[in-house]
Amino acid sequence: MNRLKDKRALITGGTSGIGLETARLFLSEGARLAITGRNPATLEEARRSLGADVLIIPADASDVAAQKTVAETVRRVFGGLDVLFLNAGIADLRPVEQWDERGFDHSFATNVKGPYFLIQAMLPIFANPASVVLNASVNAHVGMPATSVYGATKAALLSLARTLSGELISRGIRVNAVSPGPISTPLYGKLGLSEADRKTLAASVQNQVPVGRFGDATEIAHAIVFLASDESAFTVGSELMIDGGMGNL
Ligand code: NAI
Repeated sequence: MNRLKDKRALITGGTSGIGLETARLFLSEGARLAITGRNPATLEEARRSLGADVLIIPADASDVAAQKTVAETVRRVFGGLDVLFLNAGIADLRPVEQWDERGFDHSFATNVKGPYFLIQAMLPIFANPASVVLNASVNAHVGMPATSVYGATKAALLSLARTLSGELISRGIRVNAVSPGPISTPLYGKLGLSEADRKTLAASVQNQVPVGRFGDATEIAHAIVFLASDESAFTVGSELMIDGGMGNL
């Protein structure tokens, strides 16, 4: 399949979960691919599983200066960029009384500030046309306990999809968002929960999904391919909800 043939694509957080699955699909659709991540061990694993042709760029998504380095590396190696999937993100879930300023700032730096400044850093090298896809979440829409900060970061991305589209479409840059529902990825192992609490959370979340199950990362990756490709040339500033009905019903 060649739906992304000759497209130069960058996926942030391409070492795990939705990012890694999308990386696999991008390659199978003919894209030339770069990924970022911050953990040397998982970056090396991704290199082994995705192949030596993939450009691996170590970069912390929360670090604004690092985003400039990412853009410079992509410019040097690819000469330009057709597709940017802003996927790297953290889910720090806590009841409101347990938040402190440091944690709040870290969530916003990783999920909103870094992605924003990566888009800015890419502006000189975006091709025309180019496609930017933001990984938001159903948590921007539903009132799930302990998600106040996470949901706010994702709601900010949905706003950016609209406002940046309005600003950038004249340069041929489309910005869209996907809002996944609960997807089986390593993210749930990073919540700092015991195995028993993680299972309780998973069961409770699953009960809130009308189709009655977690989604698979591939089910998100297929949508990203659509939004990245020219098939979605008329799709601008939109949000694609892929959530088993969780946010809509
Ligand atoms: P994951 O934990 O498997 O993958 C997250 C990726 O982001 C990893 O590659 C990780 O290295 C990277 N990352 C995190 N912080 C980073 C940083 N500071 N610098 C560089 N890379 C960083 O999780 P998953 O589930 O694949 O999540 C990907 C995105 O999807 C996130 O933005 C998440 O909020 C979003 N999402 C996930 C859902 C789920 O149920 N799994 C549901 C809705 C949205």
